Amino acid sequence: MRRVLVFLLAALAFSGGQALAQTVAVLCSPALAWCEQLAPTFKTATGVDLEFIRLSSSESLARLRAEAANPTFDVWFGGTGDPHLVAFNEGITEFYKPTLWDDLLPSLTRSVGETYTPLYTGAIGFVVNEGVLNEIGAPVPTCWTDLTDPAYRGLLAMPNPNTSGTAYTVIATLVQLFGEETAFEMLADIHQNVAHYTRSGGAVGLLAGRGDVGVAIQFLHDGVAYIKQGFPVTNYAPCEGTGFEIGGISLVSGAPSRDAAIAFIEWALTPEAQSIAASRGESFQVQSNSNTPVDPDSPDLSALKLIDYDFATFGSPEVRDRLVGKWTTEVFPVPRR
Ligand code: G6P
Repeated sequence: MRRVLVFLLAALAFSGGQALAQTVAVLCSPALAWCEQLAPTFKTATGVDLEFIRLSSSESLARLRAEAANPTFDVWFGGTGDPHLVAFNEGITEFYKPTLWDDLLPSLTRSVGETYTPLYTGAIGFVVNEGVLNEIGAPVPTCWTDLTDPAYRGLLAMPNPNTSGTAYTVIATLVQLFGEETAFEMLADIHQNVAHYTRSGGAVGLLAGRGDVGVAIQFLHDGVAYIKQGFPVTNYAPCEGTGFEIGGISLVSGAPSRDAAIAFIEWALTPEAQSIAASRGESFQVQSNSNTPVDPDSPDLSALKLIDYDFATFGSPEVRDRLVGKWTTEVFPVPRR
């Protein structure tokens, strides 16, 4: 911690002989409540102002791609890891090795290498409103293949991969578990059962919580947030195994306020900063710093059957764009019967 404070103070006092820009512009992809808490706490810790816009992970990638020649953001904070990797591969973001790198969970830093910095991790699953399913006589789904059953017609919600990184994680998970051909047949069947595609990954659990659908496909830690808020939902992890995210933080290439960006990245990886996530009652990922306390209600990832997620392949621009494009042209437009 002392190392980070010394670094932050040095960064604040000197910045190539210039005063540190006093505002950092952040593109923020986790739950809004977490994003909103960043500015006041970062300001208290460093005196630096923070402005943010909240966009889902795929929307953020599109925004960063669109303004790559003239970036307006300094840091991309949170969101699923695949698009962070895509951005790095395209040179839209650059690797910055934080002082606290060695304090981060080795399983996370090993998986992504020196591309982007892990911020948190969490696994995909089903957030189920059993009351809705009981009324219709549909069983609780426990496997990915269950979701293709016509018994769930109109009962599912999932996010749209064109905007949401959660949705891309779902597609990448199915491709890794079943192979691309079967995965897309399953996605076509699942599409027939989907009542709502949402813009953000977090939103689907609210639809299940309110009883608009019976099953939300999303990160299990988002399910925890809805359970804690009192919604009648239960988390299920798919029997075949499931995919997970290594949510990231990235320095934008050509960041207008690079020194403030680096000060923010250094701060964001401290246990103090990472503890904000759960304290707002909405973000129950396992945080990347091994010294950040894990909320007792966060899903226990070691108890889940996690796939050996191939981050390099599914974070490559070609694979990601091709799979999202294929879903958009071959699955999404098919009329639901
Ligand atoms: C939620 C989850 C995060 C995840 C994010 C992705 O906020 O809690 O762990 O990274 O969704 O958001 P998106 O809207 O891109 O699916």
